[in-house]
Amino acid sequence: MELLDGKKTSAALKDDISIEVAKMIDADIEAPHLAAILVGEDPASQTYVAAKEKASKAVGITSSIYNMPTSTTEKELLKMVDFLNNDDDVDGFIVQLPLPEHINEQKIIESINPNKDVDGFHPVNVGKMALGLESFLPATPSGILEILKYYNIKTEGKHCVVLGRSNIVGSPISIMMGQKKYPGNSTVTLCHSRTENLEEITASADILIVAIGSPEFVKKDMVKPGAVVIDVGIHRVKSNVTKSGYKLKGDVEFEGVSQVAAYITPVPGGVGPMTIAGLLANTLKAAKINRKL
Ligand code: GUN
Repeated sequence: MELLDGKKTSAALKDDISIEVAKMIDADIEAPHLAAILVGEDPASQTYVAAKEKASKAVGITSSIYNMPTSTTEKELLKMVDFLNNDDDVDGFIVQLPLPEHINEQKIIESINPNKDVDGFHPVNVGKMALGLESFLPATPSGILEILKYYNIKTEGKHCVVLGRSNIVGSPISIMMGQKKYPGNSTVTLCHSRTENLEEITASADILIVAIGSPEFVKKDMVKPGAVVIDVGIHRVKSNVTKSGYKLKGDVEFEGVSQVAAYITPVPGGVGPMTIAGLLANTLKAAKINRKL
C-alpha cells in the first residue's frame, strides 16, 4: 500500500503558485487577492477559513476575511457579495458554506460574479465544467485530480465509483472522472443514499472516491484488493487514545481498508490540503484572467 500524501502533493503545487506570485510582484504587479465571507461562528468553518488565510499568505496571495454575525440577513449578505463583485482589488472570493438556515444558499451562490467565483459553485462555472469548457473547477474535485496526476495513477478505462452526490464534491468529481482527458476517461458509477447493492458496487471499483459524510463508512470488505481509495471525509470523533480526547477520521475505515488498497489518502493529510491548493490555484487564475495578465 502506498499513501497518497496530500501534504507533499499540495506543497509541490503551492511551490509552483508561489513562484508565479513572486514573478508578479517582481514585475510590480499586485499579488492576487482572495477574500472570504464567513457568516456565523461554525467552528469547522472558522477552522477552514483560517487555514485558507494561512495558506494564501504562505504563497504570497493577499487574503481578507469578512466576518458577519449569524443574525446577518440574506439582503445584507447579498450586499456584501455585491461589494466584493465590484471591488477591483479582489480577484476572487468565496462565501464559506454552510450558511445559517435563514439564508438561501443557492441565491447567494448565484449572486457571485462567475469571474470571481474561485469556488466554482456558480451555475455558469458548473455548466462550463460539465461541458468540459475552461472554468473555475471546484477546489476539492480538482485537488483529487491533482493527487491522481501527481502519483501517476492510471484512470483510463478504470471503473471509478463515487460515493456521495453533493454539489461540492460527489457530483462534480463524477462528471470530471468521465471526461475525455487525463485524469479521467474512467467508467463512472455515482452511488448515494438510495443505491441498492452498494457493497457490490464499491467492491468492483478500481478507483473509489468517498464523499458520503459518515465516519468510517467504508470497510475493508467493501473494497477491491489493489484499489485506489480517495477519502474526502473529515470528522472529529471522540477518542480515549489522544490527549485532546478527539481524533480526525475520514469516511473510510483506514486501518482495515489500507490492508487491501494499493493507494489510499490518509485523514488528515490527504484530500484536505489539496482542496486549499486548488483554491489558491483558482485565485491565481482569476487574477490572470480578470486583469488580462
Ligand atoms: N464548505 C465546505 N467546503 C467548502 C468549500 O470548498 N467552499 C466553501 N465556500 N464552503 C465550503
